Amino acid sequence: MIRGLCFFLIGVAAIQVAGWVGLPKALYVTKAQPFEYRHKTHAEKSGSAECDGCHTLGADGVFAGLPKTESCAACHTEPQGKSAAEATLVSSYVKTEKETPWLVYARQPANVRFSHAIHTKRAKLACERCHGKHGESDTLRPYQENRISGYSRDIWGRSISRWKRVANEGMKMDDCEGCHKQQGFDTGCLSCHR
Ligand code: HEC
Ligand code: HEC
Ligand code: HEC
Ligand code: HEC
Ligand code: HEC
Repeated sequence: MIRGLCFFLIGVAAIQVAGWVGLPKALYVTKAQPFEYRHKTHAEKSGSAECDGCHTLGADGVFAGLPKTESCAACHTEPQGKSAAEATLVSSYVKTEKETPWLVYARQPANVRFSHAIHTKRAKLACERCHGKHGESDTLRPYQENRISGYSRDIWGRSISRWKRVANEGMKMDDCEGCHKQQGFDTGCLSCHR
């Protein structure tokens, strides 16, 4: 009787562990970025550490997002170093004048609208509050896409259970609204949706 119960509990635990380990693998497909880009190298070697040097916020409040190849060409028309990543940048994008098809970790579904200006200028939030340490990173982590929704894993957050979530992790509707409530306001559906 006791032995049977033990086996049963061990079985339940094993299935649970298999689920927590296996589920992320089954749920997310991993995609590689076009080439390795390191924020850290550029802060140290190119002298361009100012975020808005590349991620420009125009006077009109429109956020440019990711830098255009043109801005990289200023330094990378000819290789600066010997890395394979840089060779790809020069041969596939700078020389051909094509934009790099970066996979955006924070990308929201198409029916969501998000304004950087409101958050970084008006509310004075640090980039880190929503993006973590990406701006200082030394490597590009793999991009993981949810097989069911097609969204980046960053929207849900790393923790599948959403239990013990890190503060700047995840950008689901509840996370947006959670911070807004904390700040003492609530917005209608159409402020965030189109
Ligand atoms: C020399 C240009 C340059 C500078 C300066 C720069 N970035 Fe970037 N940033 C990039 C490029 C290129 C990418 C696309 C590759 C990637 O995801 O890292 C990127 C991507 C990002 C992303 C990823 C967005 C997403 O969700 O996919 C974040 C966040 C970011 N940068 C934050 C910062 C912060 C914060 C700073 C200042 C500390 C900064 N960047 C400075 C060029 C730059
Ligand atoms: C102000 C000059 C400057 C600009 C602008 C610049 N880079 Fe660089 N980049 C450098 C230097 C210097 C290195 C270091 C080369 C080395 O030592 O290997 C570098 C290295 C790289 C590398 C090699 C891997 C790494 O990151 O260490 C890649 C890839 C790269 N840059 C991509 C880009 C992209 C994409 C842009 C445009 C968003 C860009 N760079 C803009 C100066 C610049
Ligand atoms: C309140 C949270 C928040 C803050 C603060 C924030 N971001 Fe973002 N960021 C987002 C969200 C959400 C997206 C996705 C927007 C979308 O898909 O329309 C995003 C997207 C981006 C992208 C990708 C743009 C694209 O669509 O190609 C870059 C680059 C970026 N942010 C850089 C920054 C930088 C640099 C700062 C600081 C100056 C910053 N962010 C501050 C939430 C934030
Ligand atoms: C503070 C911003 C914000 C407000 C306000 C907001 N939403 Fe959202 N909503 C989002 C974001 C971001 C997502 C995408 C991420 C996600 O799925 O949670 C989303 C996703 C959704 C989805 C898709 C769910 C899914 O998982 O794909 C629906 C439906 C939705 N919202 C309806 C509403 C309705 C109805 C209201 C008003 C009662 C509302 N939202 C108010 C930000 C907001
Ligand atoms: C860390 C806190 C924080 C997070 C996370 C956050 N916001 Fe905000 N948001 C603010 C603050 C603070 C304001 C008010 C800025 C002001 O008016 O000074 C604001 C304002 C807004 C407004 C304008 C509301 C109005 O009526 O003026 C919209 C729309 C909005 N946020 C959408 C979003 C969406 C969509 C997300 C999630 C993807 C999000 N926010 C995540 C802090 C946050």
